[in-house]
Amino acid sequence: MSLAIGIDIGGTKIAGAVIDELGEIVDAERVPTPLEPGALEDAVVEMITRLQSHHEVAAVGVAAAGFVDAAQSTVFYAPNIDWRNEPLRQKLEARVGTTVVVDNDANAAGWAEFRFGAGRLVSDMVMLTIGTGVGGAIVANDHLFRGGFGAGAELGHLRLVPGGYACGCGQHGCLEQYGSGRALLRMADEIADAGGIGQRLARVRDEHGALDGRLIGALIMEEDAGAIAALRQLGHWIGEASASLAAVLDPQRFVIGGGVADAGELLLDPIREAFRQHLPARGYHPEPDFVIAELVNDAGVVGAADLARVHVADRVQRA
Ligand code: BGC
Ligand code: NA
Ligand code: ZN
Repeated sequence: MSLAIGIDIGGTKIAGAVIDELGEIVDAERVPTPLEPGALEDAVVEMITRLQSHHEVAAVGVAAAGFVDAAQSTVFYAPNIDWRNEPLRQKLEARVGTTVVVDNDANAAGWAEFRFGAGRLVSDMVMLTIGTGVGGAIVANDHLFRGGFGAGAELGHLRLVPGGYACGCGQHGCLEQYGSGRALLRMADEIADAGGIGQRLARVRDEHGALDGRLIGALIMEEDAGAIAALRQLGHWIGEASASLAAVLDPQRFVIGGGVADAGELLLDPIREAFRQHLPARGYHPEPDFVIAELVNDAGVVGAADLARVHVADRVQRA
C-alpha cells in the first residue's frame, strides 16, 4: 500500500504523520512551532527526514496556514506567519529529496473530512476551521475548489463588518476577526471587563495574568456563563457568515473544525441559530446541517498526505 507523509504547520505545533491510502495514520509525531521562519523550515525538514527514514513514502504534503498558489508550491501570503511569496515547496524539495506538495491548511483539513470524515456522504460541503485564524475549504460537486490562482476558499477573509477590526490580511472586518480563537479571547476579555456574568472570567484572568484558549476552554466545559456568552457571540458570527456562504455555495453540510470546535454542541447551537436567522430565502431554502469535524487534530496531516498522493498519481497518469 502506498504511503505519503502529511505535515501540518500550525500556529503552536507542527504535526507530521505517515498516512496510508485509506487515511489511516501509520506513524505520527509533533513538535512546537518555532517562531523564526528559518528555524521553522529546519523543524519541518527534520521531521520529514525522520519519518522517511522509517517508511518508504511516495510524496510529502505540507499544509500551510496561508494563501497558496495553483502550482501548490508558493505561499503568497500568510496573515499569521511571516511568509510573503515563500517558495516553500522548492526549499523543502531541495532538502528532502522527495516530491513535496504545499496546500492551504484548511483545504487539507476539508479534503480529509470529505474523503474520510464528516463529509463522506455529501457532494458539496464547506469546512470552517476555527483556530488562531479562520480557515475555509469548499468541496463542490465532489471536487476541492481552488480558484483561478489557487488561493480561493479563504473564507476567513470574507468581510463581515464594514469598518470592523483590522485583520492580518491587510483589510478590516474579516470573519477571522470575529470567529477565530483570538476573537474569542477578545470577546471573553470584554465580558470580563463588564462585570456581571463576566466575574469568574475576570477572576481567572487576574489569577493567571491573562486569559488564553485553554483557560476559556476549561470554563466553557464548566458551563461558566461568561465563557459561554463569549462562545455564543463567536458562534453567531460564524452562523451569520455561513448563511451568506450557503447563498453562494449551497452545501448540504457545514463541517466545523479547529481547536474551538472542541466546544461541540455548545458552539453548534449559536451557529445554527444565527444561520437560520440570516439565511436568504429562509423557510424555503433546504437547510444544510452543521457538524463538528470527525478527524479533529489529524485532519490537516491526513488531508495533506492524501492531496500529495493525488498530485503524484495525476502526474504519473499525464506522463
Ligand atoms: C489564513 C488561511 C488559513 C487560516 C487557518 C487564515 O488567516 O489566511 O490561509 O487557512 O488562517 O489557519
Ligand atoms: Na482554504
Ligand atoms: Zn482578513
